[in-house]
Amino acid sequence: MRIVLLGAPGAGKGTQCKRIAGKYGVLHLSSGDILRQERTAGTELGKKAQSYMDSGSLVPDNLIVEMMVGAINKVSKKGFVLDGFPRTVNQAEELDKLLGRNGKKIDAVLNLEINEQVIVKRMSGRRSCPKCGAVYHIEKLKPKVNGICDHDGTKLIQRPDDRPDVVINRLKTYHQQTKPVVDYYKNNNTVYDIDANEDADAVGALMFEKLDALVLA
Ligand code: AP5
Repeated sequence: MRIVLLGAPGAGKGTQCKRIAGKYGVLHLSSGDILRQERTAGTELGKKAQSYMDSGSLVPDNLIVEMMVGAINKVSKKGFVLDGFPRTVNQAEELDKLLGRNGKKIDAVLNLEINEQVIVKRMSGRRSCPKCGAVYHIEKLKPKVNGICDHDGTKLIQRPDDRPDVVINRLKTYHQQTKPVVDYYKNNNTVYDIDANEDADAVGALMFEKLDALVLA
């Protein structure tokens, strides 16, 4: 199965993609996580992406498309769930071209819909593991030991782009450049709108209902 998860920053894409990957055995490909790994490794791509990410703007399409085409080609035999990509209409078109060349297509698009007040609370409380990428929340999704990753014992961090001024710019960028991707998919695929304001289990249940129906079809 090839799935795209859409949603504003902080809507819960990473949280839910991990659940989808666990339940359906597909690979979770997060453009944000890959970029953060490139930055940690100090690669040319990581250096080029840094200023865009820190200001809440999008990294240029040519860099992202090359990075994600490489990541998708590596897992082409397995299914995948895409998190944070595509984020512009141009990226969505390039993804369709890539899949089309191999006679494939996106099977499901899930669109997480969320109120902005909820987003701000989620982002300000988010803590992430810099080693494995696991995501927690200081009130809603706590680690077993405060401030420590359940999986590898690493000290959790607050992402630099979760600062309130950067969050405002990320939301602006989302409305201007990524919202049109929802319309692109609504014109070309079936899009399942999911109410993402509820707790993570409830949101997961809504998604699984749609995906189970596709698996059984
Ligand atoms: P990226 O890492 O993709 O960030 P984002 O899309 O802004 O999304 P987030 O990771 O902030 O949020 P999320 O929706 O995954 O929510 P999460 O599950 O963590 O991108 C970062 C930057 O990289 C971009 O700004 C851009 O510069 C660049 N970039 C990436 N992809 C790009 C592309 N394709 N093109 C160009 N540039 C690109 O949840 C948030 C918090 O809420 C967590 O604390 C979580 O525990 C909690 N939570 C989640 N769900 C629930 C729930 N249901 N109830 C309560 N709490 C919840």
